[in-house]
Amino acid sequence: MDSKEKILFDDGTHKCVMFSFDDESHEDSFLSVNQYLIVQNGAGVLIDPGSEAIFDELYDAVSLHVDIQNIKFIFLSHQDPDVAGSIAQWAVSTKAKFIMSSLWVRFMSHYGFMEMSRVMALADGGAKLKFGKDYLQFVPAHFLHSPGNFTLYDSKSKIAFSGDIGAAVVSSPQGYKKVESFEEHKEHLQGFHKRYMGSNKLCRAWVQKIQKLQVDVIAPQHGLIFEDENVQNFLEWLKELQCGSDFMEELY
Ligand SMILES: [Fe+2]
Ligand SMILES: [Fe+2]
Repeated sequence: MDSKEKILFDDGTHKCVMFSFDDESHEDSFLSVNQYLIVQNGAGVLIDPGSEAIFDELYDAVSLHVDIQNIKFIFLSHQDPDVAGSIAQWAVSTKAKFIMSSLWVRFMSHYGFMEMSRVMALADGGAKLKFGKDYLQFVPAHFLHSPGNFTLYDSKSKIAFSGDIGAAVVSSPQGYKKVESFEEHKEHLQGFHKRYMGSNKLCRAWVQKIQKLQVDVIAPQHGLIFEDENVQNFLEWLKELQCGSDFMEELY
């Protein structure tokens, strides 16, 4: 098995793939980066494709699962370079529509992206998009960490692609990148979430939204994925997390 790729879900018509391509110059940072692909009946959705540096590798890996011209949507959970840096290359290479928070549309030209007519801008409340027989839901995740931020929920696989929520600073294990012991994993979540996430109130609001959906897997943009009882373990942990403005006195 290629350790840079893992099939998270496959029922024969609907498939979710996790990739783990890293910018080599950052491989010692331990904030390993994940990219995701959903394919249903030959139509693709690419999630947080990442920086320019990994474009070629990711393009080749994605094309083994879907005809690049059949990528219908490219979703950006937020505006960061490790999420959206390659938007201009993907625009040239595909016919996809780009889905992102309306806050970030005007900033995309700074990554060399000019085709604003291909953007589906999400209002703060999010949206539901029909995808084949199923749907994709864009769940508000604002200030977690970006002020315009969404989680993508895939109703078929029941995976929540959570962007930086759930990101952990860990060196990449070989093979399947999933949390084994939540107790041991907590310390790798703590520092990142404390400084990057907005506040406990915002974490709770997101947890409430997620708990209304049937979520089997939480798949973050960095680190390891949460499955089985670790989905609930993570949500309980996040509900109690003190972060961001809860530490005003440390920040100002
Ligand atoms: Fe980010
Ligand atoms: Fe990130």
